[in-house]
Amino acid sequence: MSEVEGASDQLSEVSLDEKQKPASENVENSPSDSPEYLSVTIGATVPTGFEQTAADEVREKLGSQSRISKDRGKIYFDISVESLSKVHGLRSVDNLFVVVQEFRDYQFKETKEDVLKDFEDLAGKLPWSDPLKVWKINTSFKKKKTKRKKLTQQNSINKEKVDDEQGDMGAEKQITSHTVEEVLETIENQDDTIGETPILAYSKKISEIPSAIEKEKGVNESPKEETESQVLKFRVTCNRAGENHCFTSNEAARDFGGAVQDYFKWKADMTNFDVEVLLNVHNNEIVVGIALTEESLHRRNITHFGPTTLRSTLAYGMLRLCSPQPTDIIIDPMCGTGAIPIEGAAEWPNCYHIAGDNNPLAVKRAANNILSLLTKSQVKESKAFWGLPIDAIQWDICNLPLRTGSVDIIVTDMPFGKRIGSKKRNWNLYPSCLQEMSRVCRPGTGRAVLLTQDRKCFAKALSRMGHLWRKVHTVWVNIGGLHAAVYLLKRTSQVFVHPSELEHEKETF
Ligand SMILES: C[S@@+](CC[C@H](N)C(=O)[O-])C[C@H]1O[C@@H](n2cnc3c(N)ncnc32)[C@H](O)[C@@H]1O
Repeated sequence: MSEVEGASDQLSEVSLDEKQKPASENVENSPSDSPEYLSVTIGATVPTGFEQTAADEVREKLGSQSRISKDRGKIYFDISVESLSKVHGLRSVDNLFVVVQEFRDYQFKETKEDVLKDFEDLAGKLPWSDPLKVWKINTSFKKKKTKRKKLTQQNSINKEKVDDEQGDMGAEKQITSHTVEEVLETIENQDDTIGETPILAYSKKISEIPSAIEKEKGVNESPKEETESQVLKFRVTCNRAGENHCFTSNEAARDFGGAVQDYFKWKADMTNFDVEVLLNVHNNEIVVGIALTEESLHRRNITHFGPTTLRSTLAYGMLRLCSPQPTDIIIDPMCGTGAIPIEGAAEWPNCYHIAGDNNPLAVKRAANNILSLLTKSQVKESKAFWGLPIDAIQWDICNLPLRTGSVDIIVTDMPFGKRIGSKKRNWNLYPSCLQEMSRVCRPGTGRAVLLTQDRKCFAKALSRMGHLWRKVHTVWVNIGGLHAAVYLLKRTSQVFVHPSELEHEKETF
């Protein structure tokens, strides 16, 4: 059965729609009663700065135009329900939700009490029906959340791995570093939104909650016949950004959540919920949505994390900036865990990708990540699997074992000098690595996409190499709260001459 057929079958099983649809929406023969006409707006969070990249991907893969939200890091596009599986296949989006209703110029009342009362009233007036159908269909596409091990448990596992890995650090240090990695990973995955972070703030005592079934069966039937599992569990998450709000995200989620519960007779559950209702408030814009992802879609390639593992969605955005063409040779000379070249090999399999790093532990992690992906792909593919066009190697970026002019594209995430290296060391590293990159990169057509937060040092190093690199575009990004830049550089047609040769020429004249 195709995914579309599967989705249509499930649609007929949706029990929420008619009984819970407000009367005003219950129009007979409405086009939206039929799955093929079910058209909804999808909201997607994307790495800040890469909204246009995501919009381009949506247009290319789904044929839909996107609207970029005023609060950066989100795009909206319309789809028909058959495209839902393709939406989950997008590489540039982190989290997905179906829009219930959008208010572009919401008129907030003067006092907190009045604003919160309006939120309560809103719950019963929203067009929930189609978004809930989409939520139901979506369950077959949704990836379940990967269970995180507790840190203490993780430590003992790491201890075993340390003996196996034997990198250049001692065992004790490794355990510590992996624990820090867990923490950093959490930071890295925090929402980039400026303002209050997404917090759920609604709960009610379970004993107070009548079930949805009671409402559906009518009051004469005993509520005791209900089973707990038939009642949907939900939570409300409020994201709020903007200066002039007289309420907090907690208060909004609590009061709006209370009204949602009263309306649907669902059960509130902060951690084990079926439906996550989103209340996104940005200045005077409000978007109510239902989450379609349990865990961010950027969690796809990496199983062995490092201290600064890059999101796969950001890696995709960086790769896309330099438009890879079939047979291009693409290198990440400071690959860490290999997030960029692995995403490259998965999405551009007609190119050849090389992942290199000077830290043996990083190369080992990258190799392990490649291996995990190969194993996963082998299990998934029914036909013969030819592997991935990628290699991992230990090297020093300042002295690459590659022929001059042999590389088409360089995409890398440079040490910021915070978690890796130091700002002081960057003053030597950046000029040397830009020089070596200009040697290996093909004159005239070569390009580089470089991510760094050490913008001052980068600008200085680049200014000395203006004859070899031309800066075409800068994308401003937010990496775990740090303001960083992604530079797209084009290699000029000037032939590379090593500075020592220039010196020699000067001497012989
Ligand atoms: C910001 S991290 C890259 C993180 C990577 N994108 C990931 O997803 O894991 C920078 C990397 O540069 C590497 N590095 C630093 N100096 C280097 C050098 N001289 N040659 C090669 N790699 C170097 C570090 O070992 C580190 O893994």
